[in-house]
Amino acid sequence: MSKASAIAGLRLGNSCPLDRRNQMQSFVLPSHHLTTHGFICGMTNTGKTGAAFGVVEEVLREGIPVLMIDLKGDLPNLALAFPSFDASHFEPWVEPPPGDARSVREVATALAAERQNALQLWGLHEPDLRAFHDGVDVRILTPGSDAGEPVHVLSSLEHALDYYREDPSATRASLTAAISLVLRLVGLDADPTKSRRHVLLSVLAEHQLKSGLPCDLVTLLGALLEPPIDTVGALPLDTFISSAERQALAAKLNTLLASPSFASWRSGTPLDIAEWLAPKNGRTQAVIVSVAHLDDEERELVLGILFEELLTWVRKQRGTKYLRALVFFDEVYGYVPPHPQNPPSKQPILTLMKQGRAHGVGVILATQNPMDVDYRALSNAGFWCIGRLQTNADRTRVLEGLAQATGASAESRAALERLCKNLYPRWFILRDVRSKRGTLLFQPRWAMSYLRGPMTPSEIRLVRQMQAARRAPKSHVHPSLPQSVEL
Ligand SMILES: Nc1ncnc2c1ncn2[C@@H]1O[C@H](COP(=O)(O)OP(=O)(O)OP(=O)(O)O)[C@@H](O)[C@H]1O
Ligand SMILES: [Mg+2]
Repeated sequence: MSKASAIAGLRLGNSCPLDRRNQMQSFVLPSHHLTTHGFICGMTNTGKTGAAFGVVEEVLREGIPVLMIDLKGDLPNLALAFPSFDASHFEPWVEPPPGDARSVREVATALAAERQNALQLWGLHEPDLRAFHDGVDVRILTPGSDAGEPVHVLSSLEHALDYYREDPSATRASLTAAISLVLRLVGLDADPTKSRRHVLLSVLAEHQLKSGLPCDLVTLLGALLEPPIDTVGALPLDTFISSAERQALAAKLNTLLASPSFASWRSGTPLDIAEWLAPKNGRTQAVIVSVAHLDDEERELVLGILFEELLTWVRKQRGTKYLRALVFFDEVYGYVPPHPQNPPSKQPILTLMKQGRAHGVGVILATQNPMDVDYRALSNAGFWCIGRLQTNADRTRVLEGLAQATGASAESRAALERLCKNLYPRWFILRDVRSKRGTLLFQPRWAMSYLRGPMTPSEIRLVRQMQAARRAPKSHVHPSLPQSVEL
């Protein structure tokens, strides 16, 4: 990606001062401002995800990798950033609306033309699309499913020994998260603070690591059957948890190991953030971890593991004032909730927002429900985009948070509340704490990616097939795939 764009900054859209609405100008954000994190909120359909796509695309254009957490299924739309405005790119992804007599071809042609006009107004032309398409590698990872790339979610158990020597407390946090997932998968209480089984597995794992031995699932199963310890805390092992209970747990772990449906959790790309974010063949990585297909508890546990691993990686990075990587978490509702709720993702996200800055890792959170986000996450955000909010409670919470985090003056609050109530979709109140520009009205640019909406697992599979076809020599392209389509 070009150095010129790195100097120019992220062209996110247009903005104007609140009291001079006829003075719209291009809004350019230096990428390093994102090391102090961002928060995007607004009711449904206000354009939060679209605005975030603008940020993500611009960050990628600067050659900075992005990790995206997808709960709704729409972030894989990043793979629909086509290299040109040719209608054939859109054909597999459109269908005529009910009652519309046009053919798929005609709908795709109209869509391509509409997008060309819109993007050109933002100064984005085919060479920009081509450069983005060629310079960015979009990977869709789907833990627990092979629709996208499967992820070996429990790889942290397997490589724990390597990490333990470097950073025992971070390894312990990763292990805790991985053991919770294992217990959940066998239908047992996964709460590390309440479950005796969790405590036992954690103690066994730590014992292994202290002895310089691995603590993968097979080893832990063996340790359950022939425990290398006599006590847990102050209690004899058999008093803490009987031999029969240990045997029952070992049997459940064994069923898990043998079950074909569990294989998707234990195969695929390892949870290796360094590898995910490193450039590949000169292309910048955009890694989308999609958990849209999982149930609520599985999502919490998987994201708990993911964020612990991310934190471990972040702590290993040298200090920098530049943006090294961006993490975007859309629909963060329920994952960083206020006290006393404490899902496994909460602590690592809060720590990431506290420590990420020094290591050049920025986090952007987006939600419809600002009431549900812990104030510590809000107070660590320096870049704010607030779209229309419907309820007084939401507006008050967000504008209070904005005032606390950025020092926006109290006297402007009433005016901001009025504005926030009346904003049109795809318009935001914007504040960048690291700029002197004050509070602005902001219109994000059009996304280069085709924001088609949530993708089903079979559509994600289609994306992968198309990506594979693009990489394959032309003669090896599967005959059932449209040959003219390039992803
Ligand atoms: N920057 C953009 N570029 C192109 N299209 C956009 C942009 N922003 C929004 N849109 C269009 O508006 C629709 C709704 O926007 P978006 O999905 O971003 O809303 P949202 O606030 O994230 O809603 P929800 O809370 O339901 O996820 C998108 O599907 C897309 O069609
Ligand atoms: Mg959205």
